[in-house]
This record gives sequence, C-alpha cells and structure tokens, in this order.
Amino acid sequence: MSELLFELDDPGSASDYLPPLDVPEAPMPFAPRPTLDLPELDEHSVVRHFTRLSHQTFSIDTHFYPLGSCTMKYNPKLNEAIASLSGFAGAHPLQDEQTAQGWLEVLFRAQNVLAQIAGLDACTVQPLAGAQGEFAGLLMIRAYHDKRGEGQSRRRIIVPDSAHGTNPASAARCGYAVTSVQSNAQGNVDMDAMRTALGSDVAAVMITNPNTLGVFEAQIEELCAAAHQTGALVYMDGANMNAILGQARPGDMGVDVMHFNVHKTFSTPHGGGGPGAGPVAVRAILEPFLPVPHVKQTESGAFMWDWERPDAIGSLHGFRGNAGVILRALTYILRHGGAGLQRVSSDAVLSANYILARLKGAYETANPNGCKHECVLSAAKLKAEHGVSAWDIAKRLPDYGFHAPTVYFPTIVKESMMIEPTETETKATLDAFCDAMLQIAQEAITDPDMLRHAPHTLKVGRLDEAGAAKCLNLCWTTPQEAEECETPGPAKRELAGASTY
Ligand SMILES: Cc1ncc(COP(=O)(O)O)c(C=O)c1O
Repeated sequence: MSELLFELDDPGSASDYLPPLDVPEAPMPFAPRPTLDLPELDEHSVVRHFTRLSHQTFSIDTHFYPLGSCTMKYNPKLNEAIASLSGFAGAHPLQDEQTAQGWLEVLFRAQNVLAQIAGLDACTVQPLAGAQGEFAGLLMIRAYHDKRGEGQSRRRIIVPDSAHGTNPASAARCGYAVTSVQSNAQGNVDMDAMRTALGSDVAAVMITNPNTLGVFEAQIEELCAAAHQTGALVYMDGANMNAILGQARPGDMGVDVMHFNVHKTFSTPHGGGGPGAGPVAVRAILEPFLPVPHVKQTESGAFMWDWERPDAIGSLHGFRGNAGVILRALTYILRHGGAGLQRVSSDAVLSANYILARLKGAYETANPNGCKHECVLSAAKLKAEHGVSAWDIAKRLPDYGFHAPTVYFPTIVKESMMIEPTETETKATLDAFCDAMLQIAQEAITDPDMLRHAPHTLKVGRLDEAGAAKCLNLCWTTPQEAEECETPGPAKRELAGASTY
C-alpha cells in the first residue's frame, strides 16, 4: 500500500469544485510562486489516506497513554465545544479591548482562580509553556533582587536532582549558576545538603513538587523557611499539581512563585509540543514584576490590558498568550468546581498507587512508600539478568495496545519507566495495562530475544531515532533521489557508529 500522497498521484483525478472565474482576477499582493509539483488525487483518496494514517498511530482517543510527566492524557470534548464558540474562535488578537470584553474576562477569571488554587496573590497567564513559565518566574525573582540592590550578589539557584530537567536549564538561561542538591533514600530533598548549599549568594531554590520521582516533598515548609532565612525566594515547579489540587496550596507552604502546566493539570492538549500555557502565580512581593500586559478590571467593571507597570519584566511574546488554551483550562476548572478538583487529585493519586501496587513485585520501584500522581519503576534487574531494557519494554507495550510510559526519566533511576495514569482511566483499563506489564516481565525471562526485537505488530519496527533526530529529512524523494541520498554525507557518517538506546 502506498504511504505518501506523492506515490498516490493520479494526474487528472483531482476534482475541480469551483466554477471558472467570472470576475476580473485580483492583482497578487506578492510575486506569484513558481508552480508547485503537487500530487493530484480525488477527494475520497485524500480523506481515506489521512484517515488510514491516523489509525496507524497512538493517541489518547484510541489508546491508554500512560506517559509519565509532560502531558495531559485527557482532552475533554466539552473544552473544544466551548473554544469553538464563534465569539471566542472568531476574535482577533489585535481587536480593540472594548470589543473583546468576553475574552478579557476569561483571562481575568483564569488569573484569579489560578492564584487562588496556588494560594498566592496574583497570576499571569501569558507564558506559552511550562518552561517559559519557569523563565518568567525566574526573571521576576531576578527583578525582585535587583530592585533591592542584591541582584549582583545573588547569582546562584539551588535545584534538587529530582527536579524536572527544564528547571536547571531555565535557571542557566536566566544567567544563574546552578547548584544541584541530592535526594535522600526516600526520594526527598536531603535537607542537610540543602542547608549547606544555601547562602547569601542564593537567589532562589527551585523545587519540583511533587518531584519527578512522584514523591511529595514533605519538608517543603522547612525548606521554604530555611531559604527565606537567607533572603532567597522559593520557586515551585507546579507542573505536577494534579497530585495535590484542592488538597494543599503551595502558597500556604511558603512558596513564593510557581507555574502550572495546564496541559498536565487542566486537560489542555499539548501533543507534539504545543500550543501550551504555563501560567505563573506569585506572592504579592513579586506582583509588580508580572509581565505586561496584565488583565485588570476597572472600577466600572470593564476589563482592560494594563501596560502601566513600570517594574514589569516586559512581554513574553508578541501577542497575549495562548488564550484558547487558557479558555480550555478555565472550562475544566469551572466544570469541576472546588470539590471536583479535589476529587481529580485523589483519583490521580489512587490510580498511580494502584498500578504501583500491582507491578512492584515484577519491577523494582523508586517509590517504596507509595507515590503521588505517577510511579517510577525500574527494569535494572531485568536488564542485568536477562538483557531486557526499559526501552525493550516500551517497544513491546504497543503490541498489547498501549502507548509506552516515559522511559529513562527521571535520570536518577536506572532503566526507569515513569507511569502516569491520571484521574480519567477506568479500573478495567488500569488492570489491562498492568496485565500487559506483568506478561512482559514474564516474557523478559522466557523469551528475551523476542522483546529485544519488539514491536511485532506495528507498521514499522524500531526506527533509527537518533538518526531521525540528527539527520531530519521530511522531504519526499523519488526512489532515484533516495538512492542518491544513500551516499553518506557528513551527518550520516557521524551517525554510522551511533545507535538507538
Ligand atoms: C515537572 C515538569 N516541569 C516542567 C515541564 C516543562 O513544561 P513544558 O513542556 O510545557 O515546557 C514539564 C513537562 O513538560 C514537567 O513535567
């Protein structure tokens, strides 16, 4: 079966839906492009081609998606219905604010409700992703220290080794030196090491809570107090908030600034890297530094963009943020209400612990005392005894109809597999997944070679992923061009010795 539209090309078969032009042709505002050599197909062939391709892939609408961290596994159709309402979908980002009051109210309400959930005083919904939220939060921390005349002396950010990888990257991107602090045997920050690392040159402690091991940092209050004593602020990566939504508020624990990943906590889509949003909530001391424009409500009740913020860190991008994503997140929040969000977090934690309890005999775990919303298993023993890696297990799962979990992250656990079932899967689905994982653990002992060559039922087997990343070529080539491409260029030669995991 041909895979590409170019291979399906059937000259003359394309349907011409529009009658011939019966008005003068409008002048082109730009130089006409040379004619493109596009394939010609009839409508059925095009629709069937894309529908067939969509069935060859895994998605949350077709399969259970236990990927740990990073993305939401539930995008309710209600969110899409609300976002499609013409008043929202038809608006333009350059529209006059008087004619966009509904949109401004959405953003204003989102700012308020997110600040409330965080237990903090103010919030910006501008950042386009979690990592950009981190960047914005750290810029606000830097502006705060600058304003107090301590910007030059506070040059370090402390990041525990159980933090998400974007945390040290964001700190370095803001010009800070990063001090890493180790976790203890329970997967929590080692408080003695933290105290040793703290000092008057520290601008902030940046902590992911619950951390990437799926463990809640129970000493967070003590940690915040210790940081504050030295004049440092505390940034919390709140991407994992769906473990504690409605149960506890970071602001009450002493956190000064945090970001949300709405695509991890509030059901917004984020597949393939965007569009996302990473709203940042702050304590009142950081409020003057929030990016512009900020949405505010005037005394008359109208909503407006507030640009008059002299201490603001600036704007994070050309427009106003991914408003459609914020709208979906607000829809999810309002649909659930306070009690509903509390249920979300308890169900997410229950699901992860259920999986952990069923699988911890077959795999080692980094969560001996239970977990929050995600659990971390390890295939280190299977690797040592049978040569079967986390990668092989991940490749075998699609044969059983499941997307793979996140593998090799967190990096502090060998052969790690991070599983995040979220609050939305039925017990029957969780059981089917666990049955598959148990079966695979058995196969690792009885037929390791078969696992090393999985998947066996998919359209393609193991791809050269390093090659695809390093030598990305998305252009269709004729068989003859493909043959010419086989002559190794510099990038291909470099890859010759590289392997996938
Ligand atoms: C804990 C944590 N922090 C930060 C991020 C970064 O968020 P984003 O991918 O939206 O930049 C993620 C996942 O993506 C995450 O899981």
